[in-house]
Amino acid sequence: EMSDEERAFQDRIDEDIKIEPRDWMPEGYRKTLIRQIGQHAHSEIVGQLPEGNWITRAPTLERKMILLAKVQDEAGHGLYLYAAAETLGISRDDMTEQLLSGKMKYSSIFNYPTLTWADMGAVGWLVDGAAIMNQVPLQRTSYGPYSRAMIRICKEESFHQRQGYDIMMKMAQGSEAQKRMAQDALNRFWYPSLMMFGPSDAESVHSAQSMAWKIKMNTNDELRQKFVDQTVPQAEFLGLTVPDENLKWNEERGHYDYSQPDWDEFFNVLKGNGPCNAERLGARQKAWNEGQWVRDGLLAHARKNAARKVA
Ligand code: 3HC
Repeated sequence: EMSDEERAFQDRIDEDIKIEPRDWMPEGYRKTLIRQIGQHAHSEIVGQLPEGNWITRAPTLERKMILLAKVQDEAGHGLYLYAAAETLGISRDDMTEQLLSGKMKYSSIFNYPTLTWADMGAVGWLVDGAAIMNQVPLQRTSYGPYSRAMIRICKEESFHQRQGYDIMMKMAQGSEAQKRMAQDALNRFWYPSLMMFGPSDAESVHSAQSMAWKIKMNTNDELRQKFVDQTVPQAEFLGLTVPDENLKWNEERGHYDYSQPDWDEFFNVLKGNGPCNAERLGARQKAWNEGQWVRDGLLAHARKNAARKVA
């Protein structure tokens, strides 16, 4: 049974009135927003590592500049999202410590290695493509700061996907060796990209409540299906084969039938047993440790400034 406050809150959600930081909100709403926005921000920051690996190895100066711009964008996306989460009363330091201790997650996709340059194409095309599929509806999410962060982020995401698809086109229409690399990248990134949308709706523990609060606008399976329907024709245009022998257009449904990812693998990666989990968290731990002196210096400077103002 809802209290008057909860009833009034839910009415605002149902009327699409944005919830702002100083508004009353149920503790559960605050908690799940901190969880989702904080993990979204962690995904942006950890997501820089797979692509960062290829900035010094890009085949041309132009590709290097484009990749550098994209990776820098992701840092900014992380900043917007950490700032949105901070409006809910958690500090960025606290979120970072929870990432490093494994209490908070980041998207499983970033625990897979980027082995060839074609992976830069597959990541932009598939990973940013899936991220766009998920982030466009989130522009309408009920929490004001999160919605506004999503609107800004979505403006930059289409460039991320286009540059990835451009790499795939160049390689798929290139030499036999390049086409094989592009197919290999698609083979390795297809199922992990499907996992980005989260477990099946039957397994999703947060979906029902998150949709009632308009924190989540579509179910995991709905967005996954949309992603498959949009991406398969793009693979065909490239002359590449989606690694799923059950993939076929279902006229009655008006959608593609496709094979589910290996959910045991998904939950295993979430438990920390993916190919790159230790490397990714190790890199973030190293950056945190090596940045300690900067944070200490900034804090000392801020305290001195504050003391001067008081005096
Ligand atoms: N990787 C890691 N954890 C995942 C996951 C994934 N791909 N999919 C689901 N999970 C976790 C959930 O976080 C939850 O665990 P928790 O309770 O510890 O948080 C658990 O699995 C159950 O999943 P649910 O479906 O019940 O959880 P949600 O309702 O939160 O749905 C979600 C998961 C769809 C990822 C949702 O949180 C969401 O939409 N988040 C915002 C978008 C986001 O974070 N995208 C990540 C990629 S962003 C990105 O890649 C940047 C781009 O520029 C490349």
